[in-house]
Amino acid sequence: MYNLLKGKKGIIFGALDENSIAWKTAERVHEEGGTFVLTNAPIAMRMGQIKELAEKTGSEIIPADATNLDDLQTLVEKSMEILGGKIDFVLHSIGMSVNVRKGRHYTDQNYDFTTKGWDVSAVSFHKVLQTLYKNDAMSEWGSIVALSYMAAQRSFPDYNDMADNKAYLESIARSFGYFYGKEKKVRVNTISQSPTPTTAGQGVKGFDGFIAYADMMSPLGNATASECADYTLTLFSDLTKKVTMQNLYHDGGFSNTGVSNEVMEKFIK
Ligand code: NAI
Repeated sequence: MYNLLKGKKGIIFGALDENSIAWKTAERVHEEGGTFVLTNAPIAMRMGQIKELAEKTGSEIIPADATNLDDLQTLVEKSMEILGGKIDFVLHSIGMSVNVRKGRHYTDQNYDFTTKGWDVSAVSFHKVLQTLYKNDAMSEWGSIVALSYMAAQRSFPDYNDMADNKAYLESIARSFGYFYGKEKKVRVNTISQSPTPTTAGQGVKGFDGFIAYADMMSPLGNATASECADYTLTLFSDLTKKVTMQNLYHDGGFSNTGVSNEVMEKFIK
């Protein structure tokens, strides 16, 4: 361990169970000397094992629906009280599509579902940023990270409306990152992660094929949730102070690979 986050305080959204990217990140932040508040939607807390993670990492839990501004206000105020000052890092690790859950095809969306999924997966990031910003809750050179997927740039048929949500999410990082950088020296980035076997990931139709294909296409293989946690730590640390408004691929090289020999072999008779 490198003590990369010694003395740093944060908020981690989205740890549902031990497979969650946020769960792995919380464990690694703890190992690197950071302290944090854990938060998730009240319903997820009843289903999830977040208490176990809180005990393990000496953290408090504050329930908050990330689409609800009152919940976010309380979360930010209480977190600063608990942690004893401003926040240095925030992880937004939240995603959900109602169309995917209810099996609605991309060409047959229910727009109430679309709006709900967009609010949870994309606008919630703006709401988190705006609440932090208005409360002047972030320290100078603080760092905020959200998780994305390459369907924001390229078409993956079964990713459904989450593709649009991720495109919107990445745009928020750029747009808010400008103001947060100029005015408060705070970094805002998204990490575009490989397909990862988590609750959210496995909700995507044909996920097993999807993950195997990505692995075969990536020169370094798929990035795991633990590796994503490691990468996120670098963005929370002081070693990446001038990295902001970026969408950073963490995908073993997938996004820049046209085809791999392994995939080609499947087509050679
Ligand atoms: P996960 O299912 O463990 O985490 C998703 C989290 O979102 C859960 O903890 C859930 O309770 C939370 N959430 C849902 N609605 C919420 C709300 N209204 N308020 C607060 N929290 C809410 O799955 P995973 O994979 O760890 O997802 C984390 C992030 O990583 C998501 O943004 C996801 O889209 C992204 N991602 C996942 C990939 C994958 O293949 N698993 C690939 C690339 C990005």
